[in-house]
Amino acid sequence: MLKKITLSIFVIVVLAGILAARDRGQAAGRGPAQGRLGAMRAGFGVWFDELAEAYEQQDKEKMGRLIEDMRQRRQRFQGGMSGPDRPARPGTPDRPDRPMRPGPGRSPQGEADASFMASSPMPRTETEKKILQVLDDMNQNQRRGMMNVPVEDGRLLRLLTEAVGAKHVIEIGTSNGYSGIWFCLALQKTGGKLTTHEIDSRRASLARENFKRAGVDKLVTLVEGDAHENVTKLKGTIDVVFIDADKEGYTDYLNKLLPLVRPGGLILAHNISPRMADPKFLEAITQNPDLESMLHGQMSVTLKKR
Ligand SMILES: C[S@@+](CC[C@H](N)C(=O)[O-])C[C@H]1O[C@@H](n2cnc3c(N)ncnc32)[C@H](O)[C@@H]1O
Repeated sequence: MLKKITLSIFVIVVLAGILAARDRGQAAGRGPAQGRLGAMRAGFGVWFDELAEAYEQQDKEKMGRLIEDMRQRRQRFQGGMSGPDRPARPGTPDRPDRPMRPGPGRSPQGEADASFMASSPMPRTETEKKILQVLDDMNQNQRRGMMNVPVEDGRLLRLLTEAVGAKHVIEIGTSNGYSGIWFCLALQKTGGKLTTHEIDSRRASLARENFKRAGVDKLVTLVEGDAHENVTKLKGTIDVVFIDADKEGYTDYLNKLLPLVRPGGLILAHNISPRMADPKFLEAITQNPDLESMLHGQMSVTLKKR
C-alpha cells in the first residue's frame, strides 16, 4: 500500500515537473495579452517547486494541501474556458432541453463561477498602492515554502475586515506576513490593529521585514512562539479571528478565542477541505446555534451571532 502511494506521488511529481518545465518555457517571452495565462503557468512552476520540496521532506500534509489547491485551481480554470476540448455543457436546471451558452464564467456543470467578473484591487490612495505593491511582490517572489493564502482569499480577508469595521484582528499562523498585510489594508482604514502568532522564527523575522516595507509595522504585534499558549494571554474583545496554522489545533484555538469574539464578529479558518479539516472543528462551527457558518473556497466564514 505504502509502495503504491509513494509510486503514485513519484509519478505525479515527475509528470508535474515535465509540464512545469514546458510551461515555464512557454510562459517566457509572452506579451501582455497573454499575461493571465502566462502568470498562471508561472504560478504552476512555483506550485511544482513547492510540491517537489514537500516530497523531498516527506511532508504529507503539505503535499495534500498543494494537490487540493491545484485541483481547485484546475476546476476554476476549466470553468473559465470554452472550446472543443471542453466537456459538453448540460442544459440549465429549469430548461434541461436548452444548453447553456458556452463561454467564460461557466463550470463544466453549467454553473456560473467567479471568472466572469475578473477584477483586481484598485488602489484609491498612495498608502493602499504601496501595500498592494508589496503584496504583489510577495505573491510573485516569496510564495515558496510560505503556504500563503491565495490572492483571492487575501482579498476576502481584507473585504470582511473592513466591512465589520474591525478594531482588533487575531491571526494564528503569520508565515511571512502575507495574509497579515491583507488584513492591514483594511485596518489602516478602520483604525484597528493586528495581533499575529508565529512559531517559526525564520518566518517571523521575514514577516517583520515585510510589515515594515509595506509601512504597516505600527499596526502589527507579532507574537513569536506556540500560539496555543500565547492566545490564552489575550485580553479585550476581538472582531476577527483568522486560523491558518496547525490543522489539528483549530478546535483548541476556537475554544480559547470564541469567548473573546464580540457578537457580530467573525471567525475565519483556512484549508477547510474534506481532506484537511478536523471534523471536530467542522462540528464546532456548524452545530452551534450561536454561530452561522459557510464555506467560501477553502475558507470557512463564521459569524458569532448578535
Ligand atoms: C499556512 S501558514 C500561514 C500562512 C499565512 N496565514 C499567510 O497566508 O500568509 C501556517 C503557519 O503557522 C505556523 N504555525 C504552525 N503551528 C503553530 C503554532 N502552534 N503556533 C504558532 N504558529 C504556528 C507555521 O509555522 C506556519 O508559518
